[in-house]
Amino acid sequence: MALTTPPLSLYVHLPWCVRKCPYCDFNSHEGRGALPFDAYVDALLADLDQDLPLVWGRTVHTVFFGGGTPSLFPPEFIDRFLQGASSRLRFAPGAEITLETNPGTAEHGRFELYRAAGVNRLSFGIQSFDDGCLQRLGRIHDSQEAESAVKLAQDAGFDNLNLDLMYALPQQTLAMAARDLERAFALQPAHVSHYQLTLEPNTVFAARPPGGIPDEDTSWDIQEHCQALLADAGFGQYEVSAYAQPGRQCAHNVNYWRYGDYLGIGAGAHGKLTLGSEQAILRRWKHKHPTTFLAHAGTPLATGGDERIEPSRRPFEYMLNALRLVEGFGLADFEARTGLPAMSIEPQLQTAAGQGWLEIHEGRVRPTELGRRFTNDVVALFLAE
Ligand SMILES: C[S@@+](CC[C@H](N)C(=O)[O-])C[C@H]1O[C@@H](n2cnc3c(N)ncnc32)[C@H](O)[C@@H]1O
Ligand code: SF4
Repeated sequence: MALTTPPLSLYVHLPWCVRKCPYCDFNSHEGRGALPFDAYVDALLADLDQDLPLVWGRTVHTVFFGGGTPSLFPPEFIDRFLQGASSRLRFAPGAEITLETNPGTAEHGRFELYRAAGVNRLSFGIQSFDDGCLQRLGRIHDSQEAESAVKLAQDAGFDNLNLDLMYALPQQTLAMAARDLERAFALQPAHVSHYQLTLEPNTVFAARPPGGIPDEDTSWDIQEHCQALLADAGFGQYEVSAYAQPGRQCAHNVNYWRYGDYLGIGAGAHGKLTLGSEQAILRRWKHKHPTTFLAHAGTPLATGGDERIEPSRRPFEYMLNALRLVEGFGLADFEARTGLPAMSIEPQLQTAAGQGWLEIHEGRVRPTELGRRFTNDVVALFLAE
């Protein structure tokens, strides 16, 4: 069984924020004083040059600027990076290019320039439209600023917008979570990401949990009710937290979940690449701290580590991703992406089907509603002993 080269994406990490939110464990750093935008773009391109030999001749299908707060970077820097990247790599015609945007950084005139630079999708970190919730989350914007930012982007011609919302927020009721969705729908986004707030280790919220976080049953009720509201508004759920109007799924994230390939450029970025000639899958990650990354970009010292994924670990990694998708996966895709015969996971598939966690039909494997509730247990079946 041979590994087949899957579609390639490019992830670009921009690590600064105006202020660190108390619930956030992303690699994001409060930017103090003037940020080194120019030097960071140079470092990104040097970092890309280091990784290019791993992807010679391949086409990039999607680009995602994630953070941190990518919209802190003025458009000319995004433009310079994209010009540099497209002179080094072939971009597919119409490649999806997403930029994460914090509504607190929206400025008049910026969105036109992001579009001119080639960005064709924006992902707004809205979190909630309730000003009390936004304050308790330590956000730098209020609900009105969030709405105006989205409208500014639409006026600039962006029609492919995602809104990130979180639920089960401190002091949030089911009615409040529903109202957040209604206000989101009024803005007519193409996509909504709906995340349950989690208390991540090493965050301010983990050290001092805020009062009034809904208990598990209430959170479950909120989720079920919101799922129904999203469905009624035409947003099909295609992943644990992702909902889209028809044809507006995020191609970049879908490529991750189908165990596709991606280059990871920038501080702390992770990449995963299939090396056809060696029949290997390589994971590579970069130094996390922006200062260390800036100091070493373009040299092997910028790489935090390289790891080849042993065949015995691939089924677990594959399931960790593919079982997030409502559509599940085809057994032929499992074989192409892992280089392993589907027969090798037959016993685990049968166990999971016996528990009512998976449905297997004509070569496709889909998680059931129950399976999606117990994803961790399902995926654990595929861990090599
Ligand atoms: C890297 S952030 C990008 C958006 C941008 N930095 C912002 O916050 O405006 C991606 C999204 O992850 C979600 N998120 C971050 N921390 C979370 C947590 N602890 N629990 C649930 N969702 C979280 C938020 O919805 C956030 O918008
Ligand atoms: S703005 Fe986004 S990335 Fe930055 S700290 Fe807040 S949630 Fe994290």
